[in-house]
Amino acid sequence: MSHPSHRFSVAPMMDWTDRHCRLFHRQFTRRALLYTEMLTADAVIHGDRTRLLGFDPSEHPVALQLGGSDPIKLAEAAGIGAEFGYAEINLNVGCPSDRVQEGRFGACLMAEPDLVARCVASMREAVDVPVTVKCRIGIDDQDSEADFQRFIDRVAGAGCTSFAVHARKAWLKGLSPKANREVPPLDYARVYRLKAARPDLVIVINGGIATLAEAELHLAHVDGVMLGRAAYQTPYLLAEVDRRFFGSTQATPTRASALRGLLAHCERHLASGGRLNNITRHTLGLMHGMKGARLFRRHFSENAVGFEAGIDVLLAAIDMAERAETWQREAVAQEA
Ligand SMILES: Cc1cc2nc3c(=O)[nH]c(=O)nc-3n(C[C@H](O)[C@H](O)[C@H](O)COP(=O)(O)O)c2cc1C
Repeated sequence: MSHPSHRFSVAPMMDWTDRHCRLFHRQFTRRALLYTEMLTADAVIHGDRTRLLGFDPSEHPVALQLGGSDPIKLAEAAGIGAEFGYAEINLNVGCPSDRVQEGRFGACLMAEPDLVARCVASMREAVDVPVTVKCRIGIDDQDSEADFQRFIDRVAGAGCTSFAVHARKAWLKGLSPKANREVPPLDYARVYRLKAARPDLVIVINGGIATLAEAELHLAHVDGVMLGRAAYQTPYLLAEVDRRFFGSTQATPTRASALRGLLAHCERHLASGGRLNNITRHTLGLMHGMKGARLFRRHFSENAVGFEAGIDVLLAAIDMAERAETWQREAVAQEA
């Protein structure tokens, strides 16, 4: 099984979903499953584990995404991740970058279902937490529905019962990773048909979902939705996730309260020699669509970057968010 929070998750995104970003997203939703950036099995085994894998317990539930194709190394890395307390270990079978292809992992593994099955089986032996796979609907010319089903069946046969599917194929040559997230057309229906054909599997749909309303529509067909860019670029949409997807009756957090929730973390980060911008860079989209959004972004870009940037910069941003939200509430009240 996958983690029960699979109903709504924030996708793994390199350079974006680091621990600071996850802690920020956690200010909006207690329940959504948050993914790490992809870490290679080699990095987990040989790298600075505390720096790469360490996270704050308040980020939970968090899933660790691994990249690799060596079953033994992946099992070792999964075991290390489980010891760190990750709620799920996910294998990346969707990233098309050249660097990843050189390492023979990521999306090119869609052509090697037997190898992926061996990786999954070996990871499952090493950990008690769920082992899941994130994949595409196809690659290159190997993109028929039958190819896709064969891949899923083979990997499910090794005990993987939960798949997050980016509903577009990847071209391994000729398209950049960014273009591979935009150019190949989305085919949600293929993912729906997978769920219909394999109802016992947990199927999470991903790709191009921009709003919670869209996300809700997908849930008529699949078990969960995974949002990447929309969650990162317009993070305030996460504020409604617990109410709309998990039946929470808690009040919706405000933008200002989310920033306030970062104060202690920022203070600790600054005290340990980090820069404010390491954290605040993830908040630039917070005021999207609000009066003062540009000013807010400029405030952080101009004042949060240097080593001298202190907590006062965040306090000023909280003030800006509070004023914008008050102004918005008053404007709505006047209209009513
Ligand atoms: C900046 C960035 C980095 C990404 N890094 C990863 C990654 O490390 N692992 C992965 O499986 N997918 C990665 N992706 C792909 C996303 O997880 C997701 O599948 C893709 O963006 C489509 O979802 P969306 O349209 O909701 O953004 C990345 C996407 C972006 C924008």
